[in-house]
Amino acid sequence: MRHARIVVTHYGGPEELRVVEEECPEPKDGEARVRVLAAGVSLPDVMMREGVHPETPPLPFTPGWDLVGVVDRLGGAVSGIEPGQIVAALPIRGAYSEFVCLPQRELVPVPPGLDAAEAVSLVLNYVTAYQMLHRSAHVRPGQRALIHGAAGGVGSALLQLGRLAGLEMYGTCSARGTRAVSDLGGIPIDYQRLDFVKEIRRLASGGVDVVFDSIGGTHIWRSREALRRGGRVVAYGLTGLLRGGRSASGRPDRRQRFRGIAIFGLYIAGGWLLPGRRRVVPYSIQWLKRLRPAFFRQDLIALFDLLQQEKIKPLIAQRFPLAEARHAHELLGEGGVTGKMVLVPRMR
Ligand SMILES: NC(=O)c1ccc[n+]([C@@H]2O[C@H](COP(=O)([O-])OP(=O)(O)OC[C@H]3O[C@@H](n4cnc5c(N)ncnc54)[C@H](OP(=O)(O)O)[C@@H]3O)[C@@H](O)[C@H]2O)c1
Repeated sequence: MRHARIVVTHYGGPEELRVVEEECPEPKDGEARVRVLAAGVSLPDVMMREGVHPETPPLPFTPGWDLVGVVDRLGGAVSGIEPGQIVAALPIRGAYSEFVCLPQRELVPVPPGLDAAEAVSLVLNYVTAYQMLHRSAHVRPGQRALIHGAAGGVGSALLQLGRLAGLEMYGTCSARGTRAVSDLGGIPIDYQRLDFVKEIRRLASGGVDVVFDSIGGTHIWRSREALRRGGRVVAYGLTGLLRGGRSASGRPDRRQRFRGIAIFGLYIAGGWLLPGRRRVVPYSIQWLKRLRPAFFRQDLIALFDLLQQEKIKPLIAQRFPLAEARHAHELLGEGGVTGKMVLVPRMR
C-alpha cells in the first residue's frame, strides 16, 4: 500500500515542504502503525523548517510535532492495544504523513467521540499551557497573569485553562487577535501599538504574578519588568527568532538552532542574583516529557477529560489536506492566526 508524507530536504521557506508518495512504513517490534487523522501545524514546525528550533533534525525529515490517529497495524511484541483504537502522540517530527510507525509507549488513548482536530490541539498546545500553569508557575485562584501571543495556539490554550484556574488575565496580541482574547476572558494589549510594561503598570498596579513569555531574547527581560515582587516569568518560546515566518537572521540553517538558548541561561541567573525575587524559569514540553514521561501522559488524559466535559473548547483556525501543508505554513508565518492550524490527511 502506498501513502503520502511531507518531506523537507533543505532548510528554508514554506516552498521546502514537498509531498512524496512511497510505500507505507511497516511497524517493527514494539511499534504500532497509525493512520493519521489530524496533525497539528505550529510555530515549532515552522522553526524546524527554518533550522532555528533547538530540536531541528538533520535533513531530510518529515515535520509534525503532534498527531491523533487510528491504530492500523501492530508490530511484534505489542499488547494492550488493538487496531481501530484512537490514539494521540507527540513524536516532535513525522506527523505530516498519512501513516506513521511509533513505539507503543508513545501512544496515549483518546476517548471515543472527540473531534480529531480538537483532540490534536491538546497534545502540544494544551499540555504546554497546562504544565506551565500547574507544574511551572503553580498558579492559584485570584493571581494575575500576562500571556504573550494570547490569540495564538498556546496563548489561547493558556487563556482557557487560566480562566478555569480562576486567574485574572492580560494578553498581548496584534489588533486582529483582540476580540479572541477578550472572548476567552483576557484583557487584550495590542503589542504593536502599546508598550506592554506600561500597560500592565497602568492596569495592574504592582505588576502580575506570572508572565508566560513565548518571544524570547531581550523580551524576557521586559516581561520581568511586568512582575510584582516574588513573581516569575515562564520563558518557553523563541518566536522572536522569526520575522514573517522566516528566520530573522536571513540564514535558514541547523547551525542556528542554539541561538537564543544561551540568553535563557543569562536571564535565569539574573533573576536569582538581582534584588526583587523576580525569577525567570524555562519550560520545554519535550524535556519534561523525556525526564518525566508519566507527567505528559497524566496531563494529556486530564485534558481529554476536560474536553469531554466541554470545559475547554480548542479554537481551530483552519483545517487543510496534507498536500496543502505549504499553504498552512505560509498563513502561520504571515501571522494573525487565531487558534490551531490542523492538517487532515484524508480531507479532499
Ligand atoms: N517550550 C515549549 O515546550 C513550547 C511548546 C509549544 C510551543 N512553544 C513555543 O511557543 C511559541 C508559540 O507557538 P504557537 O504554535 O502557539 O504559535 P502561534 O499559534 O503562531 O502563536 C504565536 C502568537 O504570537 C503572536 N506574536 C508574535 N510576535 C509577538 C510579540 N512580539 N508580542 C506578542 N505576541 C506576538 C502572534 O500574533 P500576531 O501574528 O497577530 O502578531 C501569534 O498569535 C513559539 O515560540 C513556539 O516555539 C514552546
